[in-house]
Amino acid sequence: MPPKASPPDLTKIKILHLSDLHFGSKDGKSKHHFVRKTAPDPDGLVQVLLADPELQSAPDLAVVSGDLVWSGTEEDYGIAAAFLNRLQTQWKSTEFVLAPGNHDVNWGRSGSGEHPQQDYLTFLQKFYAGSFSSYYRFWTSADQVPERPWTQLVGLHHRPGAFLAVSVNSAAFLKLPPDRREDIPVFVSPSVLDRIGKSLPKRGKDGELRLLVLHHHLMPFAENPVSGHDPETPIGRQDPSIVENSARLQTWLARNGFHVVLHGHKHVPHGREDRLWRAGDPGAGRQLLVVGAGSAGVVQDERGTEGLSYNVIHGTPGSSRWCEVRVDVRKIAKDSMLEEASRSHVYAAVVGERPPEEPRVFCSERIDLCHRMITAAWENSHDGSGSVPWRNFMVPWMTKRISSPSCW
Ligand SMILES: [Fe+2]
Repeated sequence: MPPKASPPDLTKIKILHLSDLHFGSKDGKSKHHFVRKTAPDPDGLVQVLLADPELQSAPDLAVVSGDLVWSGTEEDYGIAAAFLNRLQTQWKSTEFVLAPGNHDVNWGRSGSGEHPQQDYLTFLQKFYAGSFSSYYRFWTSADQVPERPWTQLVGLHHRPGAFLAVSVNSAAFLKLPPDRREDIPVFVSPSVLDRIGKSLPKRGKDGELRLLVLHHHLMPFAENPVSGHDPETPIGRQDPSIVENSARLQTWLARNGFHVVLHGHKHVPHGREDRLWRAGDPGAGRQLLVVGAGSAGVVQDERGTEGLSYNVIHGTPGSSRWCEVRVDVRKIAKDSMLEEASRSHVYAAVVGERPPEEPRVFCSERIDLCHRMITAAWENSHDGSGSVPWRNFMVPWMTKRISSPSCW
């Protein structure tokens, strides 16, 4: 009998998640924070990233989840390309994953007969050069659905046993007034999702991390209150920048085993763990980590009191079936003369098919007895082998409980 194959040695994955860089200008003023004289400077953010201690080794993936530029023009993309090319030169093994946002649309092309995302497409074709047709295989066969080719601007980046990243075009249906507001509808074509789903590699034992990248958000956003709006008065509509067919997209993510969604748009970093159990789901249910990046480049006027930031995300496989994903939100701020990145906050979630492990709950009528139980459990959990069970990383939680007046 042949020996049982051991589980594959999974790679620890590091992802740089940037969003809303907004290279470009409006009325002669740069909309990008880093400037040389008065023009957007493609080097400013590069210097911050390359000096970041978390990025001293190249990331496996560098993601920009939309709004790479301000006006979607050829000129804007020239600056964005210079920025990306500088990073590519430094990080030769890094896979670059890009998704278009509502600003990657050139409304100046209206009436020209050309699609407002034509400049974005031209930029992608130059950036990926000979690899464009393998990453954007749906685009190269866009003639199959000629009435909606722009929905097929879908990037697929696959490193077997490590990651599968799919980027979709949530800006494909945006319309200029008078038909619609220029930032809606936000929609991801169901027929394109079906086509992508059919073409995805089968989920095997390789335990790769599956990521969806898009600009807009799938779920309501915990954001700063909108200025000028009375919070007691209903507006009468949902946030229109949520993906309009979000429920359908979430079903697709569940069916195809996606773990993480990366997005941008609001210029505010946020994270959300979502888990849903339905009939037919695996025991662990559908587990999604939704990660929103703040802006790493837009000027202050476009982000209120929010600072500039980006995410460095680590995927650490626990087995072939699950993975811990840790998001390190890096804020960019001036330290003496230089702008530098440092940790703002960190959050983590376990994604994949491992059943959830609930933190233990300690109950006692007397708080001092409860604290003794916690201490005893902590001491007993060291099994003498030098390994610490996963649940023992609940120390911050325990600490919180100890300081809490009500101990359950
Ligand atoms: Fe933006």
